[in-house]
This record gives sequence, C-alpha cells and structure tokens, in this order.
Amino acid sequence: MSARDFVIAPSILSANFAKLGEEVANVIAAGADWIHFDVMDNHYVPNLTIGPLVCEAIRPCTDAPIDVHLMVKPVDRIVPDFAKAGANIITFHPEASEHIDRTLSLIRDAGCQAGLVFNPATPLDYMDYVMDKLDVVLLMSVNPGFGGQRFIPGTLAKARAARAKLDAYERDSGRRIRLEIDGGVNTANIAEIARSGVDAFVAGSAVYGAGNDSDAHRYDSIIAALRGELAKV
Ligand code: DX5
Ligand code: ZN
Repeated sequence: MSARDFVIAPSILSANFAKLGEEVANVIAAGADWIHFDVMDNHYVPNLTIGPLVCEAIRPCTDAPIDVHLMVKPVDRIVPDFAKAGANIITFHPEASEHIDRTLSLIRDAGCQAGLVFNPATPLDYMDYVMDKLDVVLLMSVNPGFGGQRFIPGTLAKARAARAKLDAYERDSGRRIRLEIDGGVNTANIAEIARSGVDAFVAGSAVYGAGNDSDAHRYDSIIAALRGELAKV
C-alpha cells in the first residue's frame, strides 16, 4: 500500500473549539484526509461533546469527509440528523444498539457509509453476519470517552485478527472494508499500527496538540511526520 492510501483523520475533540472552523480547514490544508467527529452523550460514555448542529456548522469549512463516531445510546434516533448535517461516515458501538443490522441499514439508507466500533474488550464477532453492510471497522485502542489516553498495546493483535477477517471478505466479495484505529495514535506508533493491517488513523491530541497556536501552518509538520512514518511501512 502506498502512503497515500492511508487515511489520516484528526479528531477535533482536541481542537480549539473557539475557532473550530479554522481548526478543521487547517488540518485538511496540512494534508489530513478525514475529519473525525466524536459524539459523546454522558450516558454511553462519561463525557459530553458535540452533536449535529456542530457538524452542520463545520460542513462548509471543508470538502473532506466527516467521520462521525457515535458514542451514544440509543443510536438510531440521531442517525438521520447527522446525515442531514453533512456526515459522510457514521460509526457506532454495537453495545449501544438493540439491532445492529437495522442501525447499519439506517445509516446506509441515509446516504452515509456505515461502520461498527469495537471497544478494547469487545469481541470482533459482532461483524461476522453484517460484513455486507460495513464500509468501515473502527477499533478503539483506548476506552472511549476522552482524548489524550495511552494506546493499549493488545490492540495490535486485534488489528491483525480484524485484518484477516476483512481480507477474507475482500477475497470473496471483491469489496474492501477500511480498518480504522482510534486512541493514542502518534508518530512513535503509527508505523507499527499500519503494519498490523490498519489503513485509517484517528489522531486527536497528537495532531491538535502540536505546534504553536499563532502559526497558521502549525499542522503541516505533524501531518507530514505521520505521513513520513507511514511511508516506511
Ligand atoms: C476517544 C475518541 C477519540 C479521541 C482520540 O473516545 O473516540 O477519537 O479523540 O484522541 P487521542 O488521539 O488523543 O487519543
Ligand atoms: Zn473517536
């Protein structure tokens, strides 16, 4: 895989919310691919963040895909709102939906790509009977709820197991499902994570914590550094 086939998705959870539009435009200008949008409800996870109104507000700031990660329970009620707000990809945690197959269809029917998110202790078999409805599989490499946590090393073995399932599915169907990772990704570990079969990388604190706030190009070097590490894979 060439370095450009890898997706870098900065999580705006660690951005400066007082100037969110600029923060979105600036990471994409610096070479990032997707905007990762963390939705937390203080119920499924112990934190509260942003909803469809904020998605709608940042939509005009970029043409890049908005990758909405729902950490909410229940899931279904809010899906059409995010689709209307301009989301491109919507992922959710299987534990948060009573009917996983139905929720995946709801996301696709709303015109978005759909994905399941696996917490560190969640088994991968949730994907087995819904592969045809998946565009993305997202592995959590931290427990969901907060940015800035440390990468859980056991996620690498899980990524290899997920890669094997997705490759087998691609051999049968000809359709490729992306394998995304979220939590504690940085320049020191991104290459090793890529070698485990991951092809999309969320990075919050590593990207938005970099550089000097007054510098419009503050994200160029961190995105280039992540891309440089991926080029070694
Ligand atoms: C955690 C969120 C992540 C978070 C990642 O629940 O889903 O997307 O923003 O932040 P870092 O990269 O700082 O671990
Ligand atoms: Zn996330």
